[in-house]
Amino acid sequence: MTEIAITRTTNPKQPPADETLTFGTVFSDHMFMMEYHEGQGWHDPRIVPYAPFVMDPATCVLHYGQAIFDGLKAFRGPDGQIRLFRPGDHSRRLNRSAHYLCIPELDPVMVEESIRALVEVDQNWVPKMPGTSLYIRPTVIATETFLGVHPSHSYLYYVIVGPVGAYYKEGMNPVRILVSDQYVRAVKGGLGAAKTAGNYAASLFGAEEAQKAGYTQVLWLDGVEHKYLDEVGTMNIMLKIGDEVITPPLNGAILAGITRDSVLTLLRSWGLRVSERPVSIDEVTAAASAGNLEMWGTGTAAVISPVGELGYKGERYVINGGQTGALTQKLYDTIVGIQYGTAPDPFGWTRLLGNRLGG
Ligand code: COI
Repeated sequence: MTEIAITRTTNPKQPPADETLTFGTVFSDHMFMMEYHEGQGWHDPRIVPYAPFVMDPATCVLHYGQAIFDGLKAFRGPDGQIRLFRPGDHSRRLNRSAHYLCIPELDPVMVEESIRALVEVDQNWVPKMPGTSLYIRPTVIATETFLGVHPSHSYLYYVIVGPVGAYYKEGMNPVRILVSDQYVRAVKGGLGAAKTAGNYAASLFGAEEAQKAGYTQVLWLDGVEHKYLDEVGTMNIMLKIGDEVITPPLNGAILAGITRDSVLTLLRSWGLRVSERPVSIDEVTAAASAGNLEMWGTGTAAVISPVGELGYKGERYVINGGQTGALTQKLYDTIVGIQYGTAPDPFGWTRLLGNRLGG
């Protein structure tokens, strides 16, 4: 693997106090960068002081959105060790997103090493208060300067990191979610399974309306019949009706969440009945009305987020009395325990910062 050149800042900043952290507003002292040019491949991996980019106004990512990213976290445990959560799976998912967007494949070992090396350089930015972590954002953008619509011939891969607290202002308290019967996030055959900028752009209008109506997020239904649950955009959705845990299948319209996969693996290891199947909004509202529903979201930023209320077609459906359900709490405690190294890691999901890949 090509060595990563490191240039350290001569002007390091002071990380903010852990108690003040929100999500995605503060960034560390350094960033990772590597370019792609046709005929040359990916080249010049390096860590440099964090700084703005200069871009030609005709850079194609600014016009046609050929951009992908991923999101993962590093945690500082009470033992002082820093752990990355499933960095290999996030690196492979970045490559799957690249495939959907016609972006040349990156070496997943290089992606994982870029993340490890940057977190190592900026390890003083990993906060230690429970509930906080270092959020890591690997990103690829198309950099060719042209206005024709075709895949770019050059790209920039970069990684930035910053300390974060809870994603939702509610923290681990139940969120209120509006089920959209008007707008859609993605459709089967589109880009719903890719972590690409356009999916988030598509969610903004509906999310603004939801917020005006007092909801934190939107639950998107399928783009064809507006009947089956897709995802929340910032997280995958799961529910428990009776003794069955249900989550929408990976049908090409939703993101293959790493936290989703972690939760499904845990639930199956606990012997619960887990179905990845289409679930209609009518089945969900009926279960909520019968008082037979527990619901939560899963995501890297959101972790495990209980859903306390759904709004749908002008009706309000309170879930589990608006309280965090027992299974939701157990999942949160288990995942967080693994991430901070206070619980066993039977599936080998965490990687201690000290361990290098590929020599
Ligand atoms: C993540 O959970 O890492 C995401 O990328 C979601 C984003 C809305 C913050």
